Amino acid sequence: MDLMEKIVALAKRRGFIFQGSEIYGGLGGTWDYGPTGSLLKKNFKDLWWKEMVQLRDDVVGVDAAIMMNPRAWEASGHVEAFTDPLVECKICHKRFREDKVQALDEKFREAASRGVTMIAPFSPEESDMYFCKKNKNGNKRHEFTESRKFNLLVEAKLGVIEGEEQTIYLRGEITNGVHVNFRNVVDSTRIKIPFGIAQVGKAFRNEITPGNFTFRSREFEQMEVQFYIKPVEAEGKKWFEYWKQNRMEWYLSLGMKKENLRFRDHKDDERAHYAKMATDIEYKSPWGWGEMMGIHHRGDWDLRRHSEYSKQDLSYRDQTTNETYIPWDIETSAGVDRSILFLLLDAYQEEENRVFLKLDPRIAPYKAAIFPLLGNKPELIKKARSVYQNLKKQFVVTWDDRGNIGKRYASQDEIGTPYCITIDFQSLDDDMVTVRDRNTAKQVRIKISDIEEFLNKKINS
Ligand code: GAP
Repeated sequence: MDLMEKIVALAKRRGFIFQGSEIYGGLGGTWDYGPTGSLLKKNFKDLWWKEMVQLRDDVVGVDAAIMMNPRAWEASGHVEAFTDPLVECKICHKRFREDKVQALDEKFREAASRGVTMIAPFSPEESDMYFCKKNKNGNKRHEFTESRKFNLLVEAKLGVIEGEEQTIYLRGEITNGVHVNFRNVVDSTRIKIPFGIAQVGKAFRNEITPGNFTFRSREFEQMEVQFYIKPVEAEGKKWFEYWKQNRMEWYLSLGMKKENLRFRDHKDDERAHYAKMATDIEYKSPWGWGEMMGIHHRGDWDLRRHSEYSKQDLSYRDQTTNETYIPWDIETSAGVDRSILFLLLDAYQEEENRVFLKLDPRIAPYKAAIFPLLGNKPELIKKARSVYQNLKKQFVVTWDDRGNIGKRYASQDEIGTPYCITIDFQSLDDDMVTVRDRNTAKQVRIKISDIEEFLNKKINS
């Protein structure tokens, strides 16, 4: 099994991620987060919010509606430009993104220039793309049509009277709910430029080739800050660089391996229609480098367009200099699901006799697991339950009294629980418990009355 297969299997086995609508055969490009996955995702988003909003004085948050007036999507340029040029196989009629086919062709050209014949490993997508399914055995290449455009926005019908429904779009990025509230936020707070507006939420895209587990989904979550600045070149450069470094440091602070992360600047012909400058933070995944998040210099594209289409003034008046201008926007846009997938891949550790997820304790689903030692001695269970109930008030902890201790450790290791706390017969006499560290498997005895402080110190440091 390769690493990706191991992660997919572990995600299902331990309740992180399931195929969406699995019992009905699934719905392509949708995923459901289970008991552990939803906790991991929540902890991750909460930590992001804490660092991006709570601990900063220059960022405030919003939670805008997913359904928006369709004019907003015309203004944002998505109705017109949110399209992927696609080519279609003339034999099996499967469609592929033109840029991906070109990238694969480039790999072949590059290999040929070194006199090397490129053979596997292909990613499943690449192999599908290169060899037509119907001719796979003969290794015959696809013959493609000219490329055509395909809109990524997911349409929905809103309204109760048949025939009178309005066609709306599920948001293709969470960004525009922020921009349309720029005036409201400025008027209702004391915030001054430079400042940011943060949002976390679902986005939807009619992706042609969802795949690589949650990497390319049709429903996914984003965490973004739109950071508004004075429209001056030097400010643009300064804040773009600031957010690039800030975001890279954040992922490193979560324990991700430095060698698995890199910046990749967008070339002129691949930037989104709104971007003046764009850089991705990419992760070295089992199928190659993949985009985890983007930092985009969006200039005044969004505010100017929303101003034009809504006929509302979205300019900003600087109270100290009396200047009035449409601010520029430096955006940081991270995929929650991609970050979670890459965090899982990065945290996966195999040792001789165990597998564990070395997740940062701040985002691990459970902070500790409480085990009563087998034996069903009522006083022991009572003591263990009281430790569990007390800790539950402050931390997300879990209880496990099934099977032998070794199996319980194994299951918590795979969930990434940083500490396992065992209450044994000796605990009845000395009020102490055994705490096992996930990363080292080392055990220490500590007083029951000290557990809270111990966990607080370990988890928040
Ligand atoms: N507001 C800017 C924006 O949406 P983007 O590069 O299209 O920019 C930002 O998306 C991030 O959202 C990506 O870096 C990726 O992490 C995530 N993302 C985009 N499309 C996705 C998809 N189909 N499935 C999962 N995540 C996706």
